[in-house]
Amino acid sequence: MGASDENRLSVVIVNVRQGAEDDFWSVAGRLETQLTRQYCVQAQTIRDEGTAACFYLVWQWVNADAARRSHADREINELLTELRRVSLVTHAISGARDRVPTDTDERRGLIERDRRAGFERRVETPGPVVVEKRASRERRLGPRREWERAPDIIGAARRAREHADARFSNFKVGAAIETTEGTIVTGCNIENATYGLTICAERVAMFKALSEGHRGFTRIAIVADTETPTPPCGACRQILWEFGGNLDVRLANLTAETRTYQLKDLLPMPFDARLLQP
Ligand code: THU
Repeated sequence: MGASDENRLSVVIVNVRQGAEDDFWSVAGRLETQLTRQYCVQAQTIRDEGTAACFYLVWQWVNADAARRSHADREINELLTELRRVSLVTHAISGARDRVPTDTDERRGLIERDRRAGFERRVETPGPVVVEKRASRERRLGPRREWERAPDIIGAARRAREHADARFSNFKVGAAIETTEGTIVTGCNIENATYGLTICAERVAMFKALSEGHRGFTRIAIVADTETPTPPCGACRQILWEFGGNLDVRLANLTAETRTYQLKDLLPMPFDARLLQP
């Protein structure tokens, strides 16, 4: 599918929590700056004059690829996490979602839409993109929020793997842990001349996250350049269990995601603090 067949507009509805409007303006401003620096032609924050504390973030991506790359940008993801802290975030239109035109007319419409210049016209007549109407709270929590909820942790683990120092084994591993607030913390394996002091990617990621104050975790991605998935070693399973609980463990290599496990299945009959009770 060519880039011109993809939607290059994102509209996000934001309902700011009571008393958090100053924080919202601060994060919205920083988001605009970051987005227009490399990903967006325009990024605007528009107040809904009819609804208190409701805003629209309207982002016009440079191209579909820019939208996709922004989804993997750590700073952007951190700002989005901050945004979610101060508001309820709902995606009305998501840019660069792959979609297949159903017939020739629609395809023509998409091409025509792409040819048109002018941001305002796009907003008024955004073409045949699917717009989800905000009807109820339940609806707001629906799958459209998935993009917000699911940053690209496998991509983050792949990038972290590039920093691995595996000078003795040549076996580079990357990991990315997602916190309950949606922050991604990455790690890679670091080897040293004593071999025994080597530390795995998973523990680096977990210790980094703990040292930054995170205490709740939802999942971890682990990436190695192997055909068969690389599961966490025993020591890492123990640390992940004690600090992360029953995480989803997503395994991937450089080109594909191979499998997802639950940590409880990788570490049956775990030893943990509960067993230290007299
Ligand atoms: N390693 C990890 O970082 N994570 C794993 O899940 C398996 C192994 C590292 C440790 C060592 O640096 C290299 O891979 C070879 O064992």
